[in-house]
Amino acid sequence: MDNRPIGVFDSGLGGLTAVKELELALPGESIVYFGDTGRVPYGSRSRETVRRYARQDMNFLLGHNVKAVLAACGTVSSTAGDIGAALPVPYFDVVAPTARAAAKAADNRRVGVIGTSATIASGSYVRALRELDPKLEVFSQACPLFVPLVESGFVDPEDPITRLAAERYLTPLREAGVGALILGCTHYPIIRRTIRQVMGPDIALIDSGREAALALAEFLASHELLCGPDQRRQAEYYVTDAPEDFASVAELFLGHSVAGRRIDIENGE
Ligand code: DGL
Repeated sequence: MDNRPIGVFDSGLGGLTAVKELELALPGESIVYFGDTGRVPYGSRSRETVRRYARQDMNFLLGHNVKAVLAACGTVSSTAGDIGAALPVPYFDVVAPTARAAAKAADNRRVGVIGTSATIASGSYVRALRELDPKLEVFSQACPLFVPLVESGFVDPEDPITRLAAERYLTPLREAGVGALILGCTHYPIIRRTIRQVMGPDIALIDSGREAALALAEFLASHELLCGPDQRRQAEYYVTDAPEDFASVAELFLGHSVAGRRIDIENGE
């Protein structure tokens, strides 16, 4: 038994897709969430910068005495996995569990991957998928406009700007006939309905935040690291920009209110 909280982080709101799944899978657990809303997006930055940010984010969570760290960010998972693996607590990220779920779901062995420019350039998903099954055909597409659209709150399935961007990015993948599409950035499930409209009803959409959360839940349960009964503490949310903006989209997405606290990640709290 371990009563410490689970630490989850992302460049912004995207990691909430993992929090939502953790809340469902492990309702008795405490969560400390860090969203780097002041420095989002990570996905268009250099590898060195993303790694520096990732190190700071992980250290922030360690400072909150977490029992495990979940990098609920495709970009960090694709560029800073070695930094996570060196942490003194178990570290999870999105790539491996998501690739496993997609390989299983794609009956026709054709998998699409969408993510930030950094995630797609890293080739992380292509490698993970090919390791699982060298015969998989993988079609990748960077969607750099999706993160700013989500962070700006353009998440309604009828929003014409988001819809137009989705059509531009996703049409080639639909035409390639992929059987499963990896939402390789944790922001993307927030616009899942728009993605579904463009991809059609038959393609499996694989949510990377969800798959990572399920892998972490399974690890904690099988290693007897869950909280004891009635030990759950109120979730804590930390951000690096206006907490009000974060709270309004977060509430819309999580379905309950969230009080974000602003911190200064560069200079300590
Ligand atoms: N949610 C992050 C990811 O999964 C978004 C990255 C970004 O900030 O560009 O990649």
